[in-house]
Amino acid sequence: MCSLNRYVAFEGIDACGKTTQTKLFYEYLIHTGKDVFLTKEPGDTATGKKIRNIILQDNIDDKAALLLFLADRVLTINKIKDKLKNSYVVSDRSLYSTIAYQSYGSGIDLNLIEQFNQFATGGLKPDVVFYIDISINVMYERLSNFDKMEDKGEEFFNRVRDGYLKMADRYDNIYKIDGMQNKKDVFRDIVEIWNNL
Ligand SMILES: Nc1ncnc2c1ncn2[C@@H]1O[C@H](COP(=O)(O)OP(=O)(O)O)[C@@H](O)[C@H]1O
Ligand SMILES: [Mg+2]
Repeated sequence: MCSLNRYVAFEGIDACGKTTQTKLFYEYLIHTGKDVFLTKEPGDTATGKKIRNIILQDNIDDKAALLLFLADRVLTINKIKDKLKNSYVVSDRSLYSTIAYQSYGSGIDLNLIEQFNQFATGGLKPDVVFYIDISINVMYERLSNFDKMEDKGEEFFNRVRDGYLKMADRYDNIYKIDGMQNKKDVFRDIVEIWNNL
């Protein structure tokens, strides 16, 4: 099977619509007769779920969180590598989240994070990334709707969003989508890009 455009990831700040669009896109590929593995980072393996709980519950140090996210990545990537032999892989987040949150957001050195990502993945990256862009105001509105407030503060999320915007400019495999449209229009844009790759 051709290895082009088979590993697809969805990225963006909290509540931008990743989980919504990941599922829609997964169903779309299934509907078109593809074999698809749906996954997410962090927490898609039994050990990964424990790791995710530690990160979420213990409100730990940024460096410790980085290393735990990377440990989770090793486990998920092993699964993804195996699945890519025969299937498409659609993932809710990927290594770019670590660059956006832990480097641009928390200020950990970008080169170091890129080396860690390389170490954790062996160089495997998503072929296509849909970065769903929303403003920080829209993020807070949506989070208050489903009662899941983040405690990192507005400045943190501004930096994370700026990081994503920079990456979308810099990397050819990252496609920026306007996430402030309704869900149907966001999905229409995603499918349009996908069908023109
Ligand atoms: N385009 C959209 N317009 C309005 N609300 C949306 C849109 N996309 C998602 N939502 C809502 O915002 C919340 C977060 O969506 P979700 O897909 O879980 O985002 P994420 O996985 O990026 O955190 C959910 O309540 C979802 O229904
Ligand atoms: Mg989600």
